[in-house]
Amino acid sequence: MTIQFPDHFFFGTATAAYQIEGAADLDGRKESIWDVFSRVPGAVANGDNGDVACDHYHRYREDVALMADLGMSTYRFSVSWPRVMDGDRINPAGMDFYSRLVDELLEKGIDPWLTLYHWDLPADLPGGWTNRDTAKKFVDYSLAVHDRLGDRVRTWTTLNEPWCSAFLGYGSGEHAPGHKDPVEAFQAAHHLLLAHGWTIQALRQADPEASLGITLNFSPALPATDDPADRDVTRRIDQTFFRIFTEPIFHGAYPSDLLEDAKAYWPADLVQDGDLAAISAPIDVLGVNYYSTSVFRAGEPSWGGPHLLAPDAAYVSRGLPVTDMGWDIDPGGLRDLLVQLQEEYVGPAGAALVITENGSAWAEEPDADGFVDDTDTRLAYLRDHLIACREAIDAGVNLRGYLTWSLIDNFEWSFGYAKKFGIVAMDADLNRVPKASALWYSQVARTHQFG
Ligand code: NOJ
Repeated sequence: MTIQFPDHFFFGTATAAYQIEGAADLDGRKESIWDVFSRVPGAVANGDNGDVACDHYHRYREDVALMADLGMSTYRFSVSWPRVMDGDRINPAGMDFYSRLVDELLEKGIDPWLTLYHWDLPADLPGGWTNRDTAKKFVDYSLAVHDRLGDRVRTWTTLNEPWCSAFLGYGSGEHAPGHKDPVEAFQAAHHLLLAHGWTIQALRQADPEASLGITLNFSPALPATDDPADRDVTRRIDQTFFRIFTEPIFHGAYPSDLLEDAKAYWPADLVQDGDLAAISAPIDVLGVNYYSTSVFRAGEPSWGGPHLLAPDAAYVSRGLPVTDMGWDIDPGGLRDLLVQLQEEYVGPAGAALVITENGSAWAEEPDADGFVDDTDTRLAYLRDHLIACREAIDAGVNLRGYLTWSLIDNFEWSFGYAKKFGIVAMDADLNRVPKASALWYSQVARTHQFG
């Protein structure tokens, strides 16, 4: 059986600034909350940090050449806010780096997809995302980046996975800034959404032709049984994981059951007049990050999980194979999710869908030449999820492209460098060696088909 993709469908890879750039104190870069967090003992596995990472800041030409060799047509990267801004002032040296990167990409025929926020907030912003003012500052920063790169970058996404920023950053404390306060988590979620909405409005005015959007993470929660208690647990997980973002963005309101369930944590003055109109400003593209689905049942309440409104959620194994992250492998879940997003959200709004992340981590050892044969792991995962994309297109989903996570093994946040998501391996000397999955994916990108 041959799986084919339309000619206009694009293939590429994704990365994020803090995970690959390194050069943490070069050319006037300021500190981000991840620089600070990764110094907290125990916050990141092995005490790892992003000081050097993949040294992409110095090796970006090599990385772009590698993408071109692999036949990638699109590259999703993020701009580091503390690299390009020093308080309210622009840092020209930081901006220059992204300008050179974009030029290099365009020269090699690769379309740059720019994410404005992939978690590396400037460390000196008072209150971080709990402060409404941070959303205003985000608009200024975004416009400054657009001023410099808007002539060459045509696709702009505001936030990457605001669920992680709000609920892991301020709720469970697993991500920077490492706070554990439910009120702060909901404040952060709303202010992130506000930053998104205001920036969409500002960029739309500055650049009406640009394609604008946001990337959300979707890991659908499925009930273990039809028992009302199990269904209720998954409903509450979905509230913070999914609907707290999709409902205001696409339907202009927070769900009433969410407001009810979260009322102990939701400050009365959090949402102000005009906020929801800004948050629901029309977008052109919804970026979908998908890794897995999970099954839950109602269990014993316990504090500490990332699902703030579902502390009683108990994970249920389906006996599916899992990746090195322990995440269930469920390609059919991607197809179902895309169909749901098309029908309930983007379809009526007219936005397109793009997979902005999908991939898998595996414990792997290179051979003597540094080559990783991931045929039965990452390559199989990639193939099965691309089949799911094709099925979604067949079901009428307006899916335009697929970007795999990630180009290269990199800093996997609180897991440090131990979890490897790259289709390209990086050795101790930072040399890049494409894995079997990269070679296979390269053929798919070039031919738009696989057997
Ligand atoms: C989501 C995040 O956007 C990315 O930074 C992370 O590395 C991958 N998922 C894998 O966990």
